[in-house]
Amino acid sequence: MAGRPRAFPDDPHPRTRSKGSPLTTAPDSADLTTADGQDRAPNRTVAGEAGRRRTFAVISHPDAGKSTLTEALALHAKVISEAGAVHGKAGRKSTVSDWMEMEKARGISVSSTALQFNYRSTEAGESADDAVNVVNLVDTPGHSDFSEDTYRVLTAVDAAVMLIDAAKGLEPQTLKLFQVCRHRGIPVITVINKWDRPGRTPLELLDEIGERIGLTPTPLYWPVGIAGDFRGLLRRGEDGQAREYVRFTRTAGGAKIAPEEILDPDTALEREGDEWATAAEESELLSATGQDHDQELFLAGQTSPVIFASAMLNFGVRQILDTLVALAPPPQGRTANDDTVREVTDPFSAVVFKVQAGMDTAHRDRLAFMRIVSGVFERGMVVTHAQTGKPFATKYALTVFGRERSTVENAYPGDVVGLVNANALAPGHTLYVDKKVQFPPIPSFAPEHFSILRAESAGKYKQFRRAVDQLDSEGVVQILRNDIRGDASPVMAAVGPMQFEVVAARMKAEFNVEARMEPLPYTLARRTDAASVDELNRQRGVEVFTRSDGVLLALVSDKWRLQYIQKELPSLTLEPLVAAGDE
Ligand code: G4P
Repeated sequence: MAGRPRAFPDDPHPRTRSKGSPLTTAPDSADLTTADGQDRAPNRTVAGEAGRRRTFAVISHPDAGKSTLTEALALHAKVISEAGAVHGKAGRKSTVSDWMEMEKARGISVSSTALQFNYRSTEAGESADDAVNVVNLVDTPGHSDFSEDTYRVLTAVDAAVMLIDAAKGLEPQTLKLFQVCRHRGIPVITVINKWDRPGRTPLELLDEIGERIGLTPTPLYWPVGIAGDFRGLLRRGEDGQAREYVRFTRTAGGAKIAPEEILDPDTALEREGDEWATAAEESELLSATGQDHDQELFLAGQTSPVIFASAMLNFGVRQILDTLVALAPPPQGRTANDDTVREVTDPFSAVVFKVQAGMDTAHRDRLAFMRIVSGVFERGMVVTHAQTGKPFATKYALTVFGRERSTVENAYPGDVVGLVNANALAPGHTLYVDKKVQFPPIPSFAPEHFSILRAESAGKYKQFRRAVDQLDSEGVVQILRNDIRGDASPVMAAVGPMQFEVVAARMKAEFNVEARMEPLPYTLARRTDAASVDELNRQRGVEVFTRSDGVLLALVSDKWRLQYIQKELPSLTLEPLVAAGDE
């Protein structure tokens, strides 16, 4: 890997520091904003605005610490002044995202929203105003039943942070989401979390990443102290030599930013003895096996910078932000259906990646979240909805994070904006001004769970219909119908059964309809065509439906049945759909 450009860790603006002197760690993130949070710097260019943005999501298995890390990042960026009381689940969860009772009860997050903050990297020059970055952290649902939603979110980000529990290593959901990132070409930064707790050795964890997902881990910071005895981070130079030691001090309950001391290697050895010597040796060893950062390979999805952290103690969190800002790519142009590229400096365009209704029972509205691809968004502008060709006035534009909502006046490429009462908008839809553009649709996942949906009371049929149409267009579940079952009992298709619970809960809360569900004994869906329908319907364990977008789907009981039919009746069309993790 020698000879390739290395954008990090050799930063062009090294900080001045004296041996052993404590460094004020709090990044001056509020520099370019006034007290009310408005941007003070006038006349920014679209290219400049896009260039200073970093839009990313955290991908992880439930319980790896995503909520804790989100809060720690917000703390470092001064969005909040203190992390949830004592990191109690109840306190913390409510600050992040819990719009439904079901979420609260289960401690999961169903909705996907975005947190935006300004961040001045401590790697940047002291006085450069343009060194203030705008970070968009797009929240993803934690439960695998909502992997389709997560997939949609990942179409809206430019980078991902893969969060791994130091004791557990790679877990199934992390692997699945990583595959999605790989397919979409999203560069991944790896964070090994919970280093304050006993866990595996750092080299073992790196081996696992290398072997199981074929990604070369390239640590930027190496832990000093084993898992459970987290003292600080060794910052690696480009040759694997220790450049400096970032020594952390715990704060009570990890509620505040952990103070850092920056020490040179000699002082670090005096202070930490064997722990430092071991870390320095291991760091050199990594270089011998080519595990040094290389920006080109990182952007190509072949390597992943690694940082060790404790989200709970706020150790390593500044390093995560600095790495994102230094290495993650800014928003780029996007390829449209006609193969042209809409550059970030072209007129406004955006892609809807998530539609959510009833996020706040006090508002009862329907929000479409769009990621801006190009140009400037100004609240109130009239844009064109590419799918219908109709104008859409953006009078109500919001950012939403958890229960916090604020009006957006301007937004730039990479930003996420929620549009209120955008009834015609669905995930994958395009909005634009001036020159027409339409981006490719977001593929839907292959459902694996199927259930009939019925209204408990026949008198509520109208509301029931309305609810089904709404939840279908939002992409909460896919709705399938056929003549035999009739319109009153459509079939819901989902990646995970928890999506059905969301349907039932929302039907009751928003439409006042009690719904009944009857699971169907199918586990697979295949795309078919009109010529195959009759023959397929004659087969045992098979039933054909029409999805609301007109696609014909054959539901099949299991893979053996499918294999049998494919062998016996090879002329029938049975094409696989996109499976979770494929594209
Ligand atoms: P998630 O959103 O990925 O599901 O994870 P979440 O942040 O809720 O964290 C899951 C559990 O892991 C929480 O413990 C949390 O406190 C703990 N945790 C997160 N980061 C760290 C870390 O860096 N070090 C340690 N030691 N623990 C961490 P819990 O028992 O479920 O809740 P509670 O302890 O907050 O009551």
